[in-house]
Amino acid sequence: MLIFAKIKDLEAFLLEQKAKARTIGFVPTMGALHQGHLSLIESAKKACDICVCSIFVNPNQFNDKEDLKKYPRTPEADIALLEGAQCDVLFMPSVDEVYPEAIHTKYNFGYLDSILEGAHRPGHFNGVAQVVRRLFEIVQPHKAFFGSKDYQQVMVVKSLVQQLQMPINIVACPILREPDGVAMSSRNTLLSPNERKLAGHIPVWMKHAAAMIRSGKSIAQTKQYINAEVIKHKDMNLDYFEICNANDLKILDDSSPCHSRIALIALFVGKIRLIDNINIDEFESPQLN
Ligand code: PAJ
Repeated sequence: MLIFAKIKDLEAFLLEQKAKARTIGFVPTMGALHQGHLSLIESAKKACDICVCSIFVNPNQFNDKEDLKKYPRTPEADIALLEGAQCDVLFMPSVDEVYPEAIHTKYNFGYLDSILEGAHRPGHFNGVAQVVRRLFEIVQPHKAFFGSKDYQQVMVVKSLVQQLQMPINIVACPILREPDGVAMSSRNTLLSPNERKLAGHIPVWMKHAAAMIRSGKSIAQTKQYINAEVIKHKDMNLDYFEICNANDLKILDDSSPCHSRIALIALFVGKIRLIDNINIDEFESPQLN
């Protein structure tokens, strides 16, 4: 695997590859890699000739500076995992390399930025858009691969490439889970053993909530169920739980008919904020695939 820290070196390599008509698949990450990330690498390798992964903990998307400070960083282990996954290129730039000067661009994602993660993490998606745009301009991939664990992020990135008319195909990949159903996340490593055990409730509750909705229980009842479960655990705090239209993330109530519903949750386990989502109906998501 080739490792680049400098934009000009990566660009020179990619120019050579593109001159040979090789297609580029791109997987942007913040490191502390796990199998979820590696599944994106695998998809990129299947779909494209060259797979480029980036590891960059983007300060601009952390609305909470403590969260940025404690974000796990495991570069040696990441490199070993990427080598094992036969990733072709790793781009690991410094903050100064990515942001030689401060970026102040403000994006408008409208409704999409006003709900769920957008509402609870002000400025987060603007920071994601800033770094994703910068990385897309550097790598200029044919396809870029994102996990549906960050469902709203995929939609924001799709909106970004549409607004900027970038010729990049955004591919959404399924959520990879631990054996107990917990969605894999770099943040899981920050949980104490007891918190990690508590996190195991999340996929169980989400499956139960999806089954409640499918069986005709009201959204209000389902929310009550989630609230009541979370409240039982003093180390857990609910940020949001919503049932949305999977195509546009419109928050649903019982009077809104919809056949492609998704449940999304964010909650704190101790001081660590986790997110997850589950499709309620069997559907092909036109937004995400
Ligand atoms: P990060 O959290 O490192 O995630 C990188 C990619 O891996 C994202 O597309 C994310 O959705 C995906 N991913 C994480 N956990 C996953 C899982 N359990 N299964 C499948 N895919 C999973 O998301 C970011 O970084 C950043 O916001 C980034 C896009 C890199 C911009 O800084």
